[in-house]
Formats: sequence, structure tokens, C-alpha cells
Amino acid sequence: MAQKIAFATNKGGVLKTSCTVNIATSVAMQLKEAGKENEKVGIVDTDGQGNCALSFGFVPDDFKDTIYDVLMGEASVDDIIYIIDEELELCLLPSNDDMNYFTMDIITKYGSNPEILTLLRDKLKEIEDQFAYIFIDTPPALDIVQMNVLNYVDSLLIPYQPEVYSMRSIQMFLDRVSRMKESNPNLKIEGVLVTLFNGRTTAHKTNVQSLYRFLQARKIDVFDEKIPQTIKIGESVYQYQKPAVMVKEYKQNTAVMAYHSVAKQIIDKYSK
Ligand SMILES: Nc1ncnc2c1ncn2[C@@H]1O[C@H](COP(=O)(O)OP(=O)(O)OP(=O)(O)O)[C@@H](O)[C@H]1O
Ligand SMILES: [Mg+2]
Repeated sequence: MAQKIAFATNKGGVLKTSCTVNIATSVAMQLKEAGKENEKVGIVDTDGQGNCALSFGFVPDDFKDTIYDVLMGEASVDDIIYIIDEELELCLLPSNDDMNYFTMDIITKYGSNPEILTLLRDKLKEIEDQFAYIFIDTPPALDIVQMNVLNYVDSLLIPYQPEVYSMRSIQMFLDRVSRMKESNPNLKIEGVLVTLFNGRTTAHKTNVQSLYRFLQARKIDVFDEKIPQTIKIGESVYQYQKPAVMVKEYKQNTAVMAYHSVAKQIIDKYSK
């Protein structure tokens, strides 16, 4: 049965998508290197921006069916499993602009029926045995889509950019996670990952110290690795149409090494 991990928080632009595609790909690469056969890795995009597809050089609007069609009951989940890399056994369940209309369309269809908060869990149940890991990218909002994700996954990895308003945002998000435990009691926090870190600014260093104190008091783990701010890695998708962890030239890049290290910790924790 797949280990299901979402990259989520209520803030935009903090590397949810970059972490999802790089860490998922690194997990697939490390499973392959370890000679693990039949250990498929799936990436599920639930964000209408469709950035997971773009990260692998696909045009989101080219997909006939996406996660939107599955959640609306208009396509079968097996029909939206697209193989990204056969050798790595890496698959994408894509999203595109349709997903931006999901909230409106699902309420029109079902009203306020509580079923609309567990659609992802109900629809993806049948593919869980096919995958060793399912990683989920989420939109930057505390909305119905995110509630579906929180009701479905085993754990969350929370990207955190050390900026002025970030501490307040993470408090709000952690409150949301606590409330969601009523409907998904096993929901865990894998850890908080500091992203877009610039070690040369005092503001970032001070903010990260406050974050450590805040999370320690709540017994929430923080990854030792930080994803540094680097223009090079941000450009990987434009230049190579694939996540930075797949690009040979970036092998020694600190952000890439951090992604591999976080992926290794996930494998060490969950792979038998
Ligand atoms: N290490 C990095 N340093 C600087 N910029 C980066 C880095 N990694 C990725 N980026 C760029 O930062 C931007 C935001 O990243 P990303 O899309 O992963 O964030 P996100 O949290 O998914 O955003 P959204 O909330 O819009 O979904 C992108 O343009 C990406 O190319
Ligand atoms: Mg994103």
C-alpha cells in the first residue's frame, strides 16, 4: 500500500511544487539505484496551475483527462496515470486549468454534502496498491481541494519560507491540520522544510531561529536541510524541462543535494 505524502501550506510561492517534483523524482531514482523493482512512484497534482506537468516539460492543457475529471466522476483514475519515466517507474496524475473550477462545479453538483471533502480518498483508493509512494502537490489555499488532500494523505511535508508573515501563516495552517485530524485521525506531520533560504540575511536567520523554537514547543520536526535560494535551480524547468535532481550539471548544487537527502530520509523511514 502506498505511503501518501502531501506538500502543503497556505502560502504561495514557497516551493510546494518544486519540492514535490524533486523529492518524488529523487525517491524514484534512489529506489531504482537500490535495485527495487515494482516500486512505482506517483505524483498527483491537485493545483489548477498544472505546474507538476510543466516541471516535466508537458503542457497541462494537452491532457485529455486530469484529476479534475476523476474527482468530478467523469474519468476513471487509471485513465489519468501518465508514465513520465518508464525506467524510474515514475508517473504523473496531472492537473490543469479545469481544476480552478472544481470548487464551483462540485458544489453545483453535490451542494454542501460532506462527501465532497473525501472525494480524493474515495477515488484514489483503487490505485494505492500500484504505488510504493504517492506525492501530492497542492494549491496555496485553505480550500475544499486542500481539505480533500488532508483527508487523504498519511503525512504532510510543510515548506516554509522564512519571511515576515510566514510565522502567522504556519500557525493558521497547523490549526487547520489539527482540525482535520477529526476526519483523518492518522494524519501526521513529516516535518517542516525551510525553503528559499538566504543565509546571508540576518532576517532569515532570525526567522528560522523563531521557527525552531515555535515548532519545538509543539513537538513538530524540522528537516536539518534547507533549500537555498538559487536562481540556477529555479531555471531548471525552463532550460531542461525536467526537475533539477534529474539534471547532471546540477549534481553538486546545494538545493539538489538537500532534495536527495530529504528523499533518502523518507525512503529510510518507509521502505522495507
Ligand atoms: N531554490 C530555488 N531558489 C529560487 N527560486 C526557486 C528555487 N526553486 C524553485 N524556484 C522558483 O520559485 C518559484 C516558486 O516555486 P514553486 O512553483 O515550486 O512554488 P509553489 O509553492 O508551488 O508556488 P504556488 O503557491 O504558486 O503553487 C518558481 O518560479 C520556481 O522556478
Ligand atoms: Mg505550486
